[in-house]
Amino acid sequence: MPRFPQSFLDELADRVDIVDVISDYVTLKGSGRSGFVGLCPFHREKTPSFSVSADKQLYYCFGCHESGNVFGFIMKMENVDFCQSVRILAERAGMALPEGDGEKGIGKEKKQRLLQANRLAAHYYHDMLYTPEGAEALAYLRGRGLSDGHIRRFGLGYAPNDYDALTQCLKQKGCDAGELMEVGLSVMSDRGLRDFFRNRIMFPIINTYGDVIAFGGRVMDKSEPKYLNTGDTPVFNKRKNLYGINIIKKNGSKRAILCEGYMDVIALNINGFDYAVASLGTALTRDQVKLLHRYCPEIYISYDGDRAGVSATHKAIEITRQEKIKAKVIALKDGKDPDEYMRDYGPQAYSDAMNSAQWGADYLINQELAKQADSDEDKARAAYNASQLASKYSFDTIELEMYLRRISSATGYSLEALYRNIGKSQTQEAVSLTQEVVLPQQIKKESTGDSAQLVQRMLLRLLCEYPSLCEIAAKEQLEQYFEPGFRRELLLMLTEAGREKQRITQQELSMIYVEDAEKSKEIGAIFFEEMQFVEPRTYFRQCILTLKKDRLLRKREADKQRLDRYVRQELYLDEEQLRQLVKHMGELDAQIKKIRLDAQ
Ligand code: CTP
Ligand code: MN
Repeated sequence: MPRFPQSFLDELADRVDIVDVISDYVTLKGSGRSGFVGLCPFHREKTPSFSVSADKQLYYCFGCHESGNVFGFIMKMENVDFCQSVRILAERAGMALPEGDGEKGIGKEKKQRLLQANRLAAHYYHDMLYTPEGAEALAYLRGRGLSDGHIRRFGLGYAPNDYDALTQCLKQKGCDAGELMEVGLSVMSDRGLRDFFRNRIMFPIINTYGDVIAFGGRVMDKSEPKYLNTGDTPVFNKRKNLYGINIIKKNGSKRAILCEGYMDVIALNINGFDYAVASLGTALTRDQVKLLHRYCPEIYISYDGDRAGVSATHKAIEITRQEKIKAKVIALKDGKDPDEYMRDYGPQAYSDAMNSAQWGADYLINQELAKQADSDEDKARAAYNASQLASKYSFDTIELEMYLRRISSATGYSLEALYRNIGKSQTQEAVSLTQEVVLPQQIKKESTGDSAQLVQRMLLRLLCEYPSLCEIAAKEQLEQYFEPGFRRELLLMLTEAGREKQRITQQELSMIYVEDAEKSKEIGAIFFEEMQFVEPRTYFRQCILTLKKDRLLRKREADKQRLDRYVRQELYLDEEQLRQLVKHMGELDAQIKKIRLDAQ
């Protein structure tokens, strides 16, 4: 296990409640101590099969079988390792991390100091706007249509055209010079520490907790670089954050407009679209999409209408697809960005563009179809490319069929030819895709298995809840009924513990295997369901009998097949062999009958 002391982990696990934590990400409905349900954040579904148990401190999705405890949930949701999940939850619970946690993360106190420096800087910049030095900056912002309210809402400011004004001010307020460099506010020069941002309009970047984590700074003239941004620091990773996410979170908006620039976000806000975010001067990342989707299921991509914007749109559609999210695209004509578009054509025009936004796949396919001129060659190429896109970007068979029909009528190629082009026959495709939807990977893998695994799970559950059953397990040599694998590993572990008069709880098991997604799923499958055992001992015995019976039945079936082959003269048996076979079958029958009687 990791390097956190067990006592710390135990206390943390006590303090955080899985229902609280998951409620931040998933709308849960339910009542009582256990039994909360919601839409699974890990696979697409329309009816909730994602369940959370307060009693067990476990989540389990009956659809995709994802399962785990609160740490596992954060690991999967935030895409972090175990240690990071501990940090996130400790912060939430207000627990200081134990000493010696200096490797990747920084201590909580240190982090607070860095964030405090940023906060002070944001105040400083903001106040500057309203001094004579900031007059030009303020006029610039007003010129772009911002009121004082907007300026406050976004915490905008002005970095004065001075060598080290901010650095001096923050040092006076108790900030450490090294830390100012660490957060990127100050840089070392041959004349000592100087301010990083000078003579720029300042845009603080604020996370969902309301911390100022970084800044973007814009020049007020045509000089370059137009924007200067904080690089990655211990409190800021530009690939994992979005400009404006704090406002979306506050608004509780379920839809979001994803655009390119700071000023787009602000202009959209001014015009009443107060649910815009911008990726921070980088290509959109999966982490950013995840972050946004956590708050807003409905995502509109609204990049600039120029060439670069269109290519960024293609990438964004791909990134959202990888996250299994269907996003819409707002296409803006004349190469404009949202800010310019609303300025030139008015907010209503933008709203219209939004209302006619297309699904990512539609957008891509329509672009492809628009390329076809009159030549046969063009048509063929368009049909080929468009159907490839349809195949890649549709989420189910119905959607695929819909796109292919449209491509067929636009290009004149038959539906069948288009299906062939994407390497699928119409019916085959229907079958394989439905399987994908109805049977997530896990079930598919298991569908070859038999009822034995259900019984094995029941046995493990009983053994965990009633450790004294280990005596029976040992006497019956239960492991002979478990093929090598995780369930067998659990069996040996639980019997061993029982023999030592010790108990391993389900919560402990969840913790031991928290870093292994497959094993966590199995633990969910074993323990999740609510069950009451009136007579655990009897039930345990019956389970064992079932396994025994299954095994005898399988042997009986093998004998029967040999006999059949003999009858069909496909197998030669001499008289003695035949007699043995029949006798063996008789013995098996007797044993099976006895088990059936015992089990009653
Ligand atoms: N950007 C950047 N560095 C640059 C240029 C741009 O980080 N040198 C990022 C900024 O986040 C900027 C976004 O890319 O907001 C989009 O750039 P651009 O379209 O040039 O700026 P706008 O946001 O449209 O700003 P403005 O309207 O003020 O020109
Ligand atoms: Mn712009």
